[in-house]
Amino acid sequence: MKNKVLITGGSGLIGSRLTQKLIAHNYDVVHLTRSKNSKHDIKTYEWNWGKKEIDENCLENINVIVHLAGAGIAEKPWTQKRKETIVKSRVLTTRLLHEVINKHKIKLNSFISASGIGVYGAITNEIVYREANEPYNDFIGNCCKQWERAADLFQDDTNVYKLRLGIVLDKNEGALPKMSSMIRKGLGSPLGSGNQYMPWVHIDDAVNAFMNTIEKKINPGTYNVVSSQHCNNKEFTNAMGNALNKRIRLPNVPSFVLKFIYGELADILLEGSRVSNEKIKSQGFDFKYDRIEDALSEIYS
Ligand SMILES: NC(=O)c1ccc[n+]([C@@H]2O[C@H](COP(=O)([O-])OP(=O)(O)OC[C@H]3O[C@@H](n4cnc5c(N)ncnc54)[C@H](OP(=O)(O)O)[C@@H]3O)[C@@H](O)[C@H]2O)c1
Repeated sequence: MKNKVLITGGSGLIGSRLTQKLIAHNYDVVHLTRSKNSKHDIKTYEWNWGKKEIDENCLENINVIVHLAGAGIAEKPWTQKRKETIVKSRVLTTRLLHEVINKHKIKLNSFISASGIGVYGAITNEIVYREANEPYNDFIGNCCKQWERAADLFQDDTNVYKLRLGIVLDKNEGALPKMSSMIRKGLGSPLGSGNQYMPWVHIDDAVNAFMNTIEKKINPGTYNVVSSQHCNNKEFTNAMGNALNKRIRLPNVPSFVLKFIYGELADILLEGSRVSNEKIKSQGFDFKYDRIEDALSEIYS
């Protein structure tokens, strides 16, 4: 019998696409959401982590939880309140799930949590970061550390997977539409030095990585989910220009301008290092899109 999968944040970019794929593979899927506005024709249940409320009916017959919920990292400026929401919407939700799973003594096959390559910090250097590297001591590094630690609560009872995603590339949602609209208007240009690396992953590969964990094709653990090709912001911007048939003519946006507009959030736009995908590949996972040109040509063709 196929697993029944509960997805938190199933209405988002990855959750929507993963839901479609799971349904196409005959899985039962249910969503846990803040409000029942799901785009999908599937059963949804509500929760409110601030009030520690969860519709426990969502747990009926589930075998797998995929935890994707979390307030958007780059959606709003990082005020103190927003930072708290970013962390708590990931950490407290994970703990709440753990509490109800324990309360009902549910035996899961797997608990699968999203995480991000931001765990390695908003820093640009020559290190190629691997899963064994320590989380960096900055806001997103600490957020991912706490998020992953909360996921580890499930480790005594089930298989835990933590997928550290790079920037997920999709035509209509996430980071790409914002960049493409600037480039289409002729306003695209590299950010800051343009030397910061931008580990990325095509949406199909991100969804396949989650599918591989659900189907236990890879061993439990922590995995970087990024393509093999390392490209920096300047190369990424030029590849976008080529894919959209627009020349990138403007000079780089100075760092101080981005810092003025975005405050601390500018750090994740202006800094970034390379991240290795060797661990997940060593478990037999193949990335369909390894080169940025191929990923963008599929997205914009
Ligand atoms: N996309 C990327 O480039 C990327 C890169 C690295 C890591 N990740 C991580 O992977 C996960 C999934 O990514 P995604 O791109 O699919 O995210 P997304 O499109 O932003 O969706 C996340 C979902 O989380 C729920 N959510 C939003 N704000 C929330 C809050 N304050 N409290 C609780 N739930 C909230 C929403 O679902 P409901 O409205 O149904 O509640 C939303 O649809 C996220 O945690 C993200 O940080 C993504």
